[in-house]
Amino acid sequence: MAFNIKVNGNTHSIDVDGDTPLLWVLRDVLGMTGTKFGCGVALCGACTVHIDGLATRSCITSVDSVGESQITTIEAIGATPAGAKIQKAWLDREVVQCGYCQSGQIMSATALLASNPHPTDSHIDDAMSGNICRCGTYLRIREAIKQAAQST
Ligand code: FES
Ligand code: FES
Repeated sequence: MAFNIKVNGNTHSIDVDGDTPLLWVLRDVLGMTGTKFGCGVALCGACTVHIDGLATRSCITSVDSVGESQITTIEAIGATPAGAKIQKAWLDREVVQCGYCQSGQIMSATALLASNPHPTDSHIDDAMSGNICRCGTYLRIREAIKQAAQST
């Protein structure tokens, strides 16, 4: 089935089954491998993208549910004001360890900062609780989000 989807400001024509997860379309059809597959069942956050600005698990989002919405992935998040601040803070704080979870972490953190420029610890914990990091970078993630918030 043919679909047009809008990713990072570009419209892509794709031909897949309607129930294909958006994650597969991004990675296997469009070749955008920055968004990661972790659990496949909405439990880890590795696959997080933005759909109309909302942090969304692409592994359980069927491509036919996206419609005209704007999808933003890790490949373009640095072009948004909040994404640029989050990525700078991630580098300054040396957040990343193995890196596998980090595109999802950055997408969730950016959605938080874009909607709440001055989050409390509680806001941060709530927004990030669905993003799992096997390397345990949680404290550096929190500090980086605080740094990014202070620069807004
Ligand atoms: S791969 Fe989507 S939440 Fe884990
Ligand atoms: S940095 Fe390794 S899983 Fe998060």
